[in-house]
Amino acid sequence: MIRAGGNLKRISHLKEFKESIINFIVKIRLIMSKIKIMIFSIMTLIKELIFDSSNFLYLIFIFVLTYISQFYFRYFTRQHPIPGPIPFPLIGNFETYRPNSSQWAKELQRKYGDIFEVYLGGLFTLNNRQIWISNANLTNKLLSPYTNNNFPYRTTENEGLDKMDMTSKGIVFNRNVDNWAYNRRIVAQVLMAPKFLKKAVKNTQELFSEMEKYWEKLGYLNDAKGQEIELNLANWMTRFMTDSVFNLTTNTKSYALLNYYHTFNNLNKDEKESNNDHQLLKESEKFVSYIRLHFVACVFFKDTPKLLRTIVPANRKKSRELLDVVAWLNKKVLELIKERKKEIEKAEPDEELSADMLTLLLTINTNRDPKYVKTTDENKLIDVRPMSEDEVRENVYEIMGGGIDTTANTFCYVVYYLTHYPEVRQKMLQEIEKIFGKDTNREITYEDINKLNYCGAIIKEVSRIMPTVSVLFRVSAKPDEIADYKFPANTQFMINIPAIQMHPSHWNQPEKFDPDRFMNDEQQIPKNALLYFGGGARVCMGKQLAILQLKALMVLLYRKYDVELVDMSGDCNLEKLLPHLGASQLCRSPV
Ligand code: HEM
Repeated sequence: MIRAGGNLKRISHLKEFKESIINFIVKIRLIMSKIKIMIFSIMTLIKELIFDSSNFLYLIFIFVLTYISQFYFRYFTRQHPIPGPIPFPLIGNFETYRPNSSQWAKELQRKYGDIFEVYLGGLFTLNNRQIWISNANLTNKLLSPYTNNNFPYRTTENEGLDKMDMTSKGIVFNRNVDNWAYNRRIVAQVLMAPKFLKKAVKNTQELFSEMEKYWEKLGYLNDAKGQEIELNLANWMTRFMTDSVFNLTTNTKSYALLNYYHTFNNLNKDEKESNNDHQLLKESEKFVSYIRLHFVACVFFKDTPKLLRTIVPANRKKSRELLDVVAWLNKKVLELIKERKKEIEKAEPDEELSADMLTLLLTINTNRDPKYVKTTDENKLIDVRPMSEDEVRENVYEIMGGGIDTTANTFCYVVYYLTHYPEVRQKMLQEIEKIFGKDTNREITYEDINKLNYCGAIIKEVSRIMPTVSVLFRVSAKPDEIADYKFPANTQFMINIPAIQMHPSHWNQPEKFDPDRFMNDEQQIPKNALLYFGGGARVCMGKQLAILQLKALMVLLYRKYDVELVDMSGDCNLEKLLPHLGASQLCRSPV
């Protein structure tokens, strides 16, 4: 019984098991068929949506609407909002930015006040926020002179500038604060060394004589012709400053003036042939144009996101070409550095070395540096180490890039204002005559330059009304507060130079051209109200050099020549000129 019962039980268990398996399989089939139906219906729906254009548009519409809603939700609920124009998705306020950024900033200041915010682009988030400051009283923290201030950077982290190797070397975009301070200290020692500044005075005079020689050969100075001769001062000045800065930085010639002279048609046959054969001239023309392209490359890599650089074919091509330019330049400048190093090593210990920037950068903190003191103090070792070849290279580029167009443009603006204000020109001529007498060839010394106070006041007043650089950039390292607004770390601040230099609360009759405002009582000028060389820890390093060159040029040109503008009604309008690089074509002056 027991056995039979056991068998029966086993049989009934087997039966149940079989049934449950069958049930399970049936259920699985059912589920599978439901899934199939679902997939089929989803596929049909997608097909319908895609192939039926009205549904497809509907999908796009839903996507765009969601994107716009999340964008404006983020915008209107953002933390610590400050006044500013409402941005558009994707482009932010970029659409209003061009073609004239200076005019744009001026209009926004009028509408939103001395502090406003804008957004320049950003795909899904509100990024690229910029805080514009147009009042000197709000710049104290940003332009603090201490190197450890909370605004040590110019730009936020930038992949493009990293690729250009500029965020950890040199001065202008270096984000490694210790390394920037080290470079700045050494370059400042060079740029302010009396030996270097004296070389600059001499160099300016030699180049001016060279330029006059070309003018004479071109018949510009031939009075017998009895006709007025026009020359494009802006073109000549750009070449002049190129030769000057090249010589001061490397003690080599860039032949920019000579190459420009050779572009004129009225050269004699020998001169034309000698130019064609001259490999050195061609090489140097390439060098000069590549130095300019280096600057173009910085702007391109800084402002073009990696995605656009790699996806858009035209950008890919441009990136490749610009990187080739940088590689060629790096090779050339490093060759120059190595050659100079050999010359320095070969020189006798008591032999005086050239006072150019390259030699000085290579010898500072070595036993060829008269001020060098050997130290084993760990804390001081960083400060007293010599510069590496790569560091010297980067600094050489930056000095070349920073010192050419700025000074050439400023000089053209000075000429423009002097032609429009004959009484100012007359007063300047009196100062020049007082110091140099009637001898139009008397050598200018470094000491003379310091006596040219009225010339200095003219440079200041021209640069107040017509600054060559329109914005100062600063980025916060830590959260901070300005004008009672709170800002997180990494906020980009833009200091609006034209607005501050024309601000009615800082200047008496700001629209009036009046160099005397800098002769009477400079103490009355509010702090940070005159910013054409920047301010604080990152103030322009070439300030002394530029002023010296400008003053020397004013003496050299005006003690001999009577300069007029071809078109006195021509505009020298800051708003029109600032967006352009290179000296103004409007400053064409007949000699
Ligand atoms: C009239 C001529 C010049 C003008 C108007 C000018 C203007 C400026 C301005 C506005 C800045 C930004 C400062 C700031 O952010 O606070 C600057 C920075 C700089 N300038 Fe000039 N500059 C001139 C000539 C020169 C020359 C001749 C050199 C070199 C020989 C030079 C080298 C530099 C360097 C290296 C910096 C970066 C400083 C840093 O980031 O620490 N500049 N310049």
